[in-house]
Amino acid sequence: MKIVVITSSPHPKNESTSIYLADRFTEGAKSAGHEVFTFDAANTDTHPCRGCDKCAMDGPCVFKDDIENTLMPKMLEADLIVLTTPLYYFGMSAQLKIIVDRFYSRTSKLHGKKSIMMATAYNSADWTMEALSNHYDTLVRYMEWTDVGQVWATGCGARSLVEKSEFANMAYKIGANL
Ligand SMILES: Cc1cc2nc3c(=O)[nH]c(=O)nc-3n(C[C@H](O)[C@H](O)[C@H](O)COP(=O)(O)O)c2cc1C
Repeated sequence: MKIVVITSSPHPKNESTSIYLADRFTEGAKSAGHEVFTFDAANTDTHPCRGCDKCAMDGPCVFKDDIENTLMPKMLEADLIVLTTPLYYFGMSAQLKIIVDRFYSRTSKLHGKKSIMMATAYNSADWTMEALSNHYDTLVRYMEWTDVGQVWATGCGARSLVEKSEFANMAYKIGANL
């Protein structure tokens, strides 16, 4: 499979909890022979959709940034899209939401993909991921995607916590078992 992994944490790669999960997933997916392209939504040239509708939901986008030039071509040819984010006020990071809103320019062309969602959070209450999980379910439904895995890493507000958590292996196994 061709896989696109989108990371969206502003933390350095070796300190981020959500990028750690993305890396473990990638390790697993590569071990199973899949091709993985990773896009760093926090450190690339991205712009939020401005709703101009020049794309008429069918591309191209007026912005000639890294989303349009680099990410979108990879997403269009991908079999599987993996969204990863730190939990920010019980939703996805703004960095990831910018990417998601830009799906607008190719909504129907992105139909039919497989998808995975992984998020990390400091809190560990059972409702911590509820709003984001509901958002993801709705996104999958609207985009006509098929969910093939979710990792909701609560209680993972620091790198050392996620590294020794069950979620690290969960991410690896989802990749390795694709
Ligand atoms: C702006 C901001 C908002 C956050 N909001 C939440 C939250 O709503 N719930 C929570 O449990 N943790 C919250 N956190 C903590 C992060 O989700 C947590 O530290 C996560 O591990 C960071 O992942 P990263 O290292 O990949 O960026 C927030 C952190 C920041 C900086």
